[in-house]
Amino acid sequence: MQAVIAVLPGDGIGPEVVAEGVKVLQAVAARFGHTFTLREGLIGGCAIDATGEPLPAETVALCRASDAILLGAVGGPKWDDPQARVRPEQGLLGIRKALGLFANLRPVTVHPRLIGASPLRPERLQGVDLIVVRELTGGIYFGEKRRERGPDGEWASDLCLYTEAEVVRVVRVAGQLARRRRGKLTLVDKANVLETSRLWRSITTRLVREEFADLEFETMLVDACAMHLIRRPTDFDVIVTENMFGDILTDEASMLAGSMGMLPSASLAEGRLGLYEPIHGSAPDIAGQGKANPLATILSVAMLLRHSLDLPEEAACVEAAVATVIDRGIVTADIATPGQVIATTTAVGDAVAAVIAG
Ligand code: NAD
Ligand code: IPM
Ligand code: MN
Repeated sequence: MQAVIAVLPGDGIGPEVVAEGVKVLQAVAARFGHTFTLREGLIGGCAIDATGEPLPAETVALCRASDAILLGAVGGPKWDDPQARVRPEQGLLGIRKALGLFANLRPVTVHPRLIGASPLRPERLQGVDLIVVRELTGGIYFGEKRRERGPDGEWASDLCLYTEAEVVRVVRVAGQLARRRRGKLTLVDKANVLETSRLWRSITTRLVREEFADLEFETMLVDACAMHLIRRPTDFDVIVTENMFGDILTDEASMLAGSMGMLPSASLAEGRLGLYEPIHGSAPDIAGQGKANPLATILSVAMLLRHSLDLPEEAACVEAAVATVIDRGIVTADIATPGQVIATTTAVGDAVAAVIAG
């Protein structure tokens, strides 16, 4: 097949991990006889440096004209001034909103060889296989922001707003996913305090009754969920939750898999177009040192192949290659066990590409 893929490396370790993702795409193209046309664009801090804006119109146009988007990460200390007019993160939020990417799928599985890489007890990690469906274009991230000076000094506010339609569409994605998996759906909210959460709960409960009565359904408060994720992670199948809760819970869940560098994600709209990125950030503490784990990005490439290009065999091939490379002990420091030889970012990507090539 022929496909156009927009590649947005971004900042920090973004370009390092995306280079390995691209390597893997090229290995897949070669092995399966596809033509992937890769087109690079600017987003985040590098875009601010080049154009003054975190999301140049050109980048949005490039993404709209593509079949899928592969993104690294944005941000870093260089652009962190709280007084700055623009921030790299606005680029990421902007592209999610511009393309209507409301459903962010963040799967969490634990490779058997990496059970020792997690700080958690091995017997709790065996068989972890959950997916968080994070609402991505609403809530407190996108509500009105204010910062003003009043008689008592400065004040600020971030409005958290959700509409019924925004809740329904993302819960439907989660429900359909649960149906294809183990049939369990957990709504995570803070309905004991927040009005938006009470809206989520009443809409979701009704929708499940009307459209997903075959699923096992539960609700859970977000603070308790943070605890249960660590205490009994194998009990979860599909978690659906609002934007900020999903952001926080998935960084926590990454430690089940052993590292932030292991969790991929797919951000989906109504159609086929999707944006694929690791859940981690630009990791300024390790940028430029060849230490970044590229597997979250490579696993995001697998999600891209499956969801946007409808290439399940190719996706499975990438996932199997990642598992093989972990089995062979070719891993970066974040998931290495004591005494293990540590591989560089490039060495891990090379190894995955070589396995795909056969
Ligand atoms: P981070 O995810 O960049 O890093 C957190 C920790 O995890 C660091 O110790 C880092 O070294 C480690 N880590 C992350 N990815 C790794 C990888 N692939 N391999 C090995 N170790 C890895 O979060 P942060 O430090 O809080 O944020 C840094 C910057 O990234 C900020 O500017 C933030 O806004 C931005 N950020 C961007 C995204 C994104 O682009 N999607 C996501 C999160 C944070
Ligand atoms: C993520 C990041 C972003 C988010 C930031 C950088 C805007 O943390 O993709 O998880 O909060 O969504
Ligand atoms: Mn995050």
